[in-house]
Amino acid sequence: MSRCSRPVGLLSVVWGAAVALLVACNSTRETVSDVNGSSTAPLTPTVSAEPIAPPEELSGRGLLDKYECNRCHEGTYQAALPTPKHCVRCHDEIADGKFAAPREALRSWRPHVTHLRYAPSLQGVGTLVSREWATKYVLKPTDLRPHLAAWMPRLAISETEARAIVDYLASKNASLANSFDARLPHGEVAEGRRLFQQKACNGCHHFTGAGVGESALGSVEVAREIALAPDLRNTRARAVRENLVAYLLDPQKVKPGAAMPTIQLSEQEANHLASFILEVPLLAEPAQPAFQRLPLLERPIGYEEVARRVLHKTCWHCHSQPDYARGDGGPGNTGGFGFGPRKLDLASYESVSSGLLDQNGERRSVFSATASGTPLLVEVMLARHEETRGSVANVRGMPLGLPPLSAEEIQLVESWVAQGHPR
Ligand code: HEC
Ligand code: HEC
Ligand code: HEC
Ligand code: HEC
Repeated sequence: MSRCSRPVGLLSVVWGAAVALLVACNSTRETVSDVNGSSTAPLTPTVSAEPIAPPEELSGRGLLDKYECNRCHEGTYQAALPTPKHCVRCHDEIADGKFAAPREALRSWRPHVTHLRYAPSLQGVGTLVSREWATKYVLKPTDLRPHLAAWMPRLAISETEARAIVDYLASKNASLANSFDARLPHGEVAEGRRLFQQKACNGCHHFTGAGVGESALGSVEVAREIALAPDLRNTRARAVRENLVAYLLDPQKVKPGAAMPTIQLSEQEANHLASFILEVPLLAEPAQPAFQRLPLLERPIGYEEVARRVLHKTCWHCHSQPDYARGDGGPGNTGGFGFGPRKLDLASYESVSSGLLDQNGERRSVFSATASGTPLLVEVMLARHEETRGSVANVRGMPLGLPPLSAEEIQLVESWVAQGHPR
């Protein structure tokens, strides 16, 4: 606890400013939608039994606001967000030492900001990545970037909504890519492979199953142009093929803001590389071993250890009070990313013990057993492991969109709950 008290105090100052900016930001939003012709429907919800949203909230534009895609992504065509509301920009500015805060605060925060420093711009939707792929991806995110530990979070979004968002983004991006002609498939796969090695594309890219060797870099979010490099294994499923050669020749033309460097290539070379990427036969991915739960610990576990090793490391940044560590309390407490307020505050012993709101708006304990017999607090951590293995569990995996906890961390929490979750 004591290790955290200083950053928290300073953070609340930052967050004070964030709240002020937030108010300003919300009023801009209302004005925008008024201009769009909804003069009678106020966006600030008055309590109503009518669940049907006004039409503009069903449009791609309105849905981007509902799900707050611009808290992580650039290129969404939404109104600009101030840094204190922008998960990715704030983290990156802190890690770079650019965030406006006392130097001492920056120094204490920096080692703790390990995730969500980078996210891809959405200007590639419809130009570099196809609408169909993007719609499926928003509904069921997977891991695309081996050097980026964060995932796209699994949102509570419907297929109609995902499609509306993707169509809207693609229509906005359309003008970027319609001047290119298709030069595929004139390349040769073998020649593409040779060029891939010669140009050291695998310095940044994994291409799992293609036999090109892997980039030696781990999943450290070091530099943007490495962190955002996708595993090219997925490219054949997601690319707009007609634009791939143009992208290799000049990434910025097809996707402004792309983190891919412009590499000197002739058109013929780009053709060979595109054919290699799209057509080389790929070996099956190695099966991931099943997640192994560890047996309960015998030694007594106290709340302090659980907070230090788990709850205060990752969870409370999305699950706490506005005046504590997070300006808006975080999406897991006061709501956000389209989720309603679940009122789960994981910052203190008392708040953890007070539980959360269930789907019916009633308080329930995080220690109570789910259908599988496992306490909810543990079940969500196991569900995150399942999500990383491609299956979607009943409960949403936690930490949301972040790497799953280790077997030892889950064992610690599970043992603490089994011992009656003592203080
Ligand atoms: C105003 C800047 C700011 C914003 C905006 C912000 N964070 Fe953070 N975040 C921080 C700081 C500072 C820390 C480290 C605090 C500490 O020292 O413990 C942090 C830490 C975290 C951590 C734990 C460390 C890690 O990287 O895993 C998570 C998770 C996190 N934030 C998620 C989010 C999410 C999700 C959002 C958007 C809803 C967000 N943050 C928005 C400043 C911010
Ligand atoms: C909490 C941060 C966060 C939020 C909120 C978020 N995303 Fe993402 N999204 C990510 C991250 C991180 C990735 C990269 C994941 C990877 O490469 O493995 C990503 C990837 C994507 C991609 C794939 C892009 C590409 O070029 O690979 C699409 C499309 C996407 N998000 C759409 C959306 C939409 C639409 C919304 C709102 C409905 C949204 N995201 C909200 C973090 C977020
Ligand atoms: C310095 C690191 C770096 C090098 C070297 C590099 N790339 Fe990239 N590449 C990236 C990044 C980062 C992206 C993602 C950009 C974005 O979406 O913002 C990317 C995107 C791509 C994509 C789009 C894939 C997809 O699924 O969206 C292709 C194809 C690609 N690179 C091919 C190549 C080839 C071929 C080479 C060698 C000639 C190469 N790259 C060299 C960093 C690199
Ligand atoms: C990036 C933000 C974020 C992080 C980090 C995060 N959560 Fe959550 N959490 C959420 C959101 C948003 C919800 C609401 C989801 C919903 O309503 O379906 C939620 C819901 C929950 C729930 C209720 C699930 C249910 O289905 O009833 C539990 C329990 C939970 N989180 C525990 C945790 C734990 C434990 C951690 C750390 C290991 C954690 N969360 C980290 C955002 C986050």
